[in-house]
Amino acid sequence: MLAPPLRQQSLGAGRVSQPPCRRRTPNPNPATQESPHIYTREEVRSHSSPETRIWVTLGCEVFDVTEFVDLHPGGPSKLMLAAGGPLEPFWALYAVHNQPHVREMLAQYKIGELSPEDKAPSTLKTSDPYIDDPVRHPALKVNSQRPFNAEPPPELLTENYITPNPIFFTRNHLPVPNLDPETYRLHVVGPPGGQSLCLSLDDLYKFPKHEITVTLQCAGNRRSEMTQFKEVRGLEWNIGAISTARWAGARLCDVLAKAGHQLCETEAHVCFEGLDSDPTGTAYGASIPLARAMDPEAEVLLAYEMNGQPLPRDHGFPVRVVVPGVVGARHVKWLGKVSVEPEESYSHWQRRDYKGFSPSVDWDTVDFDSAPSIQELPVQSAITEPKDGETVQSGEVTIKGYAWSGGGRAVVRVDVSLDGGLTWHVAELDGEEQRPRKAWAWRLWQLQAPVPAGRKELNIVCKAVDDSYNVQPDTVAPIWNLRGVLSNAWHHVHVHVAP
Ligand code: MTE
Repeated sequence: MLAPPLRQQSLGAGRVSQPPCRRRTPNPNPATQESPHIYTREEVRSHSSPETRIWVTLGCEVFDVTEFVDLHPGGPSKLMLAAGGPLEPFWALYAVHNQPHVREMLAQYKIGELSPEDKAPSTLKTSDPYIDDPVRHPALKVNSQRPFNAEPPPELLTENYITPNPIFFTRNHLPVPNLDPETYRLHVVGPPGGQSLCLSLDDLYKFPKHEITVTLQCAGNRRSEMTQFKEVRGLEWNIGAISTARWAGARLCDVLAKAGHQLCETEAHVCFEGLDSDPTGTAYGASIPLARAMDPEAEVLLAYEMNGQPLPRDHGFPVRVVVPGVVGARHVKWLGKVSVEPEESYSHWQRRDYKGFSPSVDWDTVDFDSAPSIQELPVQSAITEPKDGETVQSGEVTIKGYAWSGGGRAVVRVDVSLDGGLTWHVAELDGEEQRPRKAWAWRLWQLQAPVPAGRKELNIVCKAVDDSYNVQPDTVAPIWNLRGVLSNAWHHVHVHVAP
């Protein structure tokens, strides 16, 4: 019951509202209403495998979810954790399940009710796994409280080239671990016959310190625009699942070399494991190709500082991976283990999520093994000012936004239109000068343009061009995909012009 479940994500924490247990009352109109079947908890418990069928309970209701198990967006194994028992302890961990559309979907699988004599099990009183999560900045727009996922509002996003730590977007799949820097150890598995490393923070500080400005973007940034076209499963990110920081730490290539790793001819991957884990003890994990990890020019970091401060807890304290130019999902936070493997990480988030598909692939036909995991991201841009629906003054309008591309490709131009894409202006680019093939950070941009006389409305559009002359697609339809990732169509903002 993890990661990206039903529409939004998974099952949630805290108090889960449940339908009250009621005694069976006589059916007032037996001709039109059937009495529910009544089951004991013992009977429910005996339905915990595909052979016996898979039943679960929520409150006093009993559901046969056998047909849904393979469709569970968090993966069948997560739903199987609840097989034969109550959903509440898992919904307590993944709060987004506790929503009307999830309940509606579950209702289709209802087969009866629990016997009223069967008291709710004590396991329902779960302690709150999120109780220890850090306090967050009130400006953040929260997409899900448990696990915590939030983005800065557009008007703050491009206020600064470097995003202040407290409003840097946060994407957590699990509760935030509370790690003691004194006892923290990073395990780096050595090559066969070699020696593994067990590094304290002080050991990491002894590697040459490397500092770079890197923009981190979630694959789900701007997913809400895909949802407007057609429903997808995932958190409803607006344009703010992207932020930029100065990261400092040891280069991964130096640490791997110290452990005796070398580039090899055959395909290999560096697998990362976080210290955040679900109730089965499964940790968040992801991987990148060894070639990228060993390339000093790729500047992959084991970062312990963010904007001159120790990493904030939400962003991976005390150590996280930073992979410049690559999707956020591979920047593993609360890093516990690094190993070099012949295959990609077997983590759910590497193999069963963060992949792109054709618009015609649906949840019945999707084959996650058929698509490569997302690594470098495509060119992206969005308008942060003015806001959709705002009224602007006639005369001149100021338009601001960000633009970024994956893989170190520099943004060379941002085109802005006031008439939905019929005519274009070229925006002015601000921000740090970018090095060839190492443009890890975004450009902020702005345009002051005359408002054509007599216009009552403006359909403002932006699109960026990177140094490979990649451009953003004009509409969502051809890039729509069932998980709503890689949403980078032209960004539109509609405004009214003051009379
Ligand atoms: N690492 C761990 N251990 N657990 C996580 O949930 N989320 C990933 C990545 N690293 C995640 C993780 C995802 S999907 C993203 S987009 C980035 O962290 C977000 O990093 P941030 O929260 O610092 O912005």
